[in-house]
Amino acid sequence: MNKPQIAFIGAGNMARSIIGGLLAEGFAPAQLSASGVRQENLDQLRAQFGVVTATDNQQIARAADVVILAVKPQILKTVALELRPALQHRPLIISVAAGIATRSLGQWLGDDQAIVRCMPNTPAQVRAGASGLYANERVSEGQRALADQILTAVGVVQWLTEEPLLDAVTAVSGSGPAYFFLMMEAMIDAAENLGLSRACATELTLQTAYGAARLAQENGGDVAELRRRVTSPGGTTEQAIASFERDEIRAIFQRALNACAARAQALSEQLGE
Ligand SMILES: NC(=O)c1ccc[n+]([C@@H]2O[C@H](COP(=O)([O-])OP(=O)(O)OC[C@H]3O[C@@H](n4cnc5c(N)ncnc54)[C@H](OP(=O)(O)O)[C@@H]3O)[C@@H](O)[C@H]2O)c1
Repeated sequence: MNKPQIAFIGAGNMARSIIGGLLAEGFAPAQLSASGVRQENLDQLRAQFGVVTATDNQQIARAADVVILAVKPQILKTVALELRPALQHRPLIISVAAGIATRSLGQWLGDDQAIVRCMPNTPAQVRAGASGLYANERVSEGQRALADQILTAVGVVQWLTEEPLLDAVTAVSGSGPAYFFLMMEAMIDAAENLGLSRACATELTLQTAYGAARLAQENGGDVAELRRRVTSPGGTTEQAIASFERDEIRAIFQRALNACAARAQALSEQLGE
């Protein structure tokens, strides 16, 4: 597809992030459209990005090669049922709504729709996101490549072969930014208790988190090896790592991710009814 038309149903934070990423990747504003409820919100979006906006979801969906569902999961069923008549031309549907299975989407939009379900995360706002993607059997190779291109505009993408694994993605990258924020919060508090000012502790903590992630990415992701390299026997880091291990940090993470994935599965069952 040469210059695909992409319509966002819902023009909130996630739609805005992806629109920003696509424009930075060279998509033309005229290829992008977005619909929402509040006119002032749409006016602001048009002023900022130059994209086409509308309050009528069907209007923008009818002209689109790709329809991105970016409304809150709780209203997706109503929005999808209303949208159905405007999808007779079988565009690629991409849903970023947390917890709504492709089976439910198919029931609402039509069983023969090509649907990619995506679990993105908030760092998409700064084009450093991480998304898990799953395609149903109707999605063609070309559509898959297009979905990949769209989500790659805001970060890295991992394709999954089984849809339930999106619950695991939710537990890792979907909710993951909050785990790192919590860790940074705890480090800043601990650093203050060691005598540093809040500002100093915050800058050192944030830069350390960023630097560690960058170093790990540039070294092929072998984080265990990187940890070993900075943990000299008898040194200072070793003391902190031993303390974490005594407190069973790995078991703490396993329990937390299990709880998150279980909640994602339960919500999916509830929202898909
Ligand atoms: N934010 C994230 O990092 C993140 C991560 C993973 C998944 N998601 C998923 O992304 C989706 C959107 O989240 P968000 O954070 O972008 O939410 P949001 O900022 O609240 O955006 C939702 C948008 O939907 C619009 N809307 C409401 N009713 C509508 C209707 N009937 N037709 C068309 N548009 C309507 C709202 O318009 P008005 O503003 O005019 O009311 C609002 O702009 C959710 O399903 C969420 O699960 C988000």
